[in-house]
Amino acid sequence: KKDIRILAFESSCDETSTAVIKNGREIESLIVATQIKSHQRFGGVVPEVASRHHIEVITQITKEALAEAHTSWKDIDAIAVTYGPGLVGALLIGVSAAKAASMATGLPLIGVDHIMGHIMAAQLKDEIEYPALALQVSGGHTEIVLIKDPIHFEIIGDTRDDAAGEAYDKIGRVLGVNYPAGKTIDEWAHKGQDTFHFPRAMMEDDDYDFSFSGLKSAFINTCHHADQIHEKLDKYDLAASFQASVVDVLSHKTIRAIKEYKPKTFILGGGVAANRGLRERLSKEIEQLPADIKPKVILPDLKLCGDNAAMIGAAAYNLYQAGIFSDEHLNADPSLEL
Ligand code: KG4
Ligand code: ZN
Repeated sequence: KKDIRILAFESSCDETSTAVIKNGREIESLIVATQIKSHQRFGGVVPEVASRHHIEVITQITKEALAEAHTSWKDIDAIAVTYGPGLVGALLIGVSAAKAASMATGLPLIGVDHIMGHIMAAQLKDEIEYPALALQVSGGHTEIVLIKDPIHFEIIGDTRDDAAGEAYDKIGRVLGVNYPAGKTIDEWAHKGQDTFHFPRAMMEDDDYDFSFSGLKSAFINTCHHADQIHEKLDKYDLAASFQASVVDVLSHKTIRAIKEYKPKTFILGGGVAANRGLRERLSKEIEQLPADIKPKVILPDLKLCGDNAAMIGAAAYNLYQAGIFSDEHLNADPSLEL
């Protein structure tokens, strides 16, 4: 059987990325051009700045991805691109580049959902057995997703307000941590204790939804109150307390979903999947489940948790196998739903 090589593009937010993926499993090349430094002084991603950076680097990193994989256009079988959700102006750069490449080469085009991509980062690590269940946690999303087969996804739980990563970034700003704050807060959390006992919202509700705005407000109020009375709080304990609350609710609901849906594989996906506390806690709790419902656990490599084109190439391979292609009418869809 012939190998299938997909050239993938990702430009939904603040990383421009290209990759060549073989048979949906093997990374032949991966280039990630991050713009984080340009956005940091604004405390978050500035859409206009993001689009300009994407357009500056996308052709160069397309050449680099082909070169690093020792391939040329004639070795490629399809072109994949993230078309949503994300920032519309940012998505349009990747979509336009992929459409132009598809038109010039005659190669088929595959539009990929960014969230499907985050989940399929797992496929680059290990074989997914279906049905699978994913906890997908990023800067824009916090969802529990049931995956019936490689192309059918159903969201069974969602956040009612802030995404988990967004909450990290917002409380990080209060502590004076540069955007994106998740990684630093995670490191601080390991040096402190849960002394503040912040709320754990919706933990005992019998659905799979989340809410992080109450936690964020409790955190901010605690800091403001301490400021007013000139009390200095320990930043490590604050981080540890915040993280304990996030990890508690995420793992509690995930374990309950695993017990109900009995998936063969559990996948952690999205930028927050890099969180050490969350990885350790979920691994431990799943390990303690009875053998007949214990799923295989796939935690993607740290460098594949954040936005990257490799995961888009992995998801695109599944669509390719199912014969699902896009055409020249593919457009960016900033609020695309799985
Ligand atoms: O998936 P991603 O790269 O972009 C989106 O699609 O949103 O996720 C970025 C988010 C940011 O909010 C960042 O603070 C968070 O992931 N993040 C983390 C960690 N590393 C990145 N959050 C908690 N712990 C981490 N170690
Ligand atoms: Zn993402």
